[in-house]
Amino acid sequence: VESAKRVPVIWLQMQDCTGCSESFIRTTHPKLESVLFDMISLEYSEVLSAASGHQVEEARRKVIEEYAGEYVLAVEGSVPKNAEYLMVGGVPAKDVLLETAAKAKLILAYGSCSSWGGIAAAGPNPTGAMPITDIIKDKPVIRVPGCPPIAEVMTGVIAHVLTFGTVPELDAQGRPKAFYRHRIHDKCNRRAYFDSGLFVESFDDEGLKQGYCLYKVGCKGPTTYNSCAEMRWNGGVSYPIQSGNPCIGCSENAFWDMGPFTTR
Ligand code: SF4
Ligand code: SF4
Ligand code: F3S
Repeated sequence: VESAKRVPVIWLQMQDCTGCSESFIRTTHPKLESVLFDMISLEYSEVLSAASGHQVEEARRKVIEEYAGEYVLAVEGSVPKNAEYLMVGGVPAKDVLLETAAKAKLILAYGSCSSWGGIAAAGPNPTGAMPITDIIKDKPVIRVPGCPPIAEVMTGVIAHVLTFGTVPELDAQGRPKAFYRHRIHDKCNRRAYFDSGLFVESFDDEGLKQGYCLYKVGCKGPTTYNSCAEMRWNGGVSYPIQSGNPCIGCSENAFWDMGPFTTR
């Protein structure tokens, strides 16, 4: 990748919390400086671009024309059905997305918001939040869900795209199999306790101190596909279950509505 031409990337933010950008910039393998200075040319980012306002919107349009069919579009956040809920530079964000997607080589849906609708789509979904795949139908979209996704998963997917120039092998839901083929439950460090019937019953009990399985306190690991139990977070240090928290299924569709944040 290092010797190849840096690929232009436009990173749009729709209805988001910037957590996916925050995760991305903490990548350790590869390091962020290697991603930004050797692999990609980040042409537009609400968080990282020095320019703002009309200047940066003009730069985005220039990239669309000069690198038509070559640039990668990364999208963080969901799209509101009601256009007035999200405007960028005086234009509905949905139109900015469609304009930028039209000439992109391929599109990365970074995070559960752009992949599934995410937090903004949680009931009663006041903005009519949609995943980007609801409005982009004519381009390959790679879903990289998680709230946020693991940094090294985000950079791993883009590294594949840049190295091979192709969409990686995807599962039935459009996620790269390399990172989403296993359930958390299958690789969990507490799995032996599940198999032995040893469970945490409440968050202050002896079972928690012993590191027992978190299934009875709401763990969604058995139905969640992600790399947390294998790759872990913060450069491989830990992940929610290892730290004593049940998996909340943050990479799965509609996870906000399946608890533990809601009683619906
Ligand atoms: Fe934030 Fe999660 Fe949405 Fe990413 S997926 S923008 S971390 S709410
Ligand atoms: Fe499965 Fe969760 Fe128990 Fe781990 S803590 S074994 S993922 S139910
Ligand atoms: Fe999310 Fe579960 Fe991993 S909550 S961070 S998928 S352990």
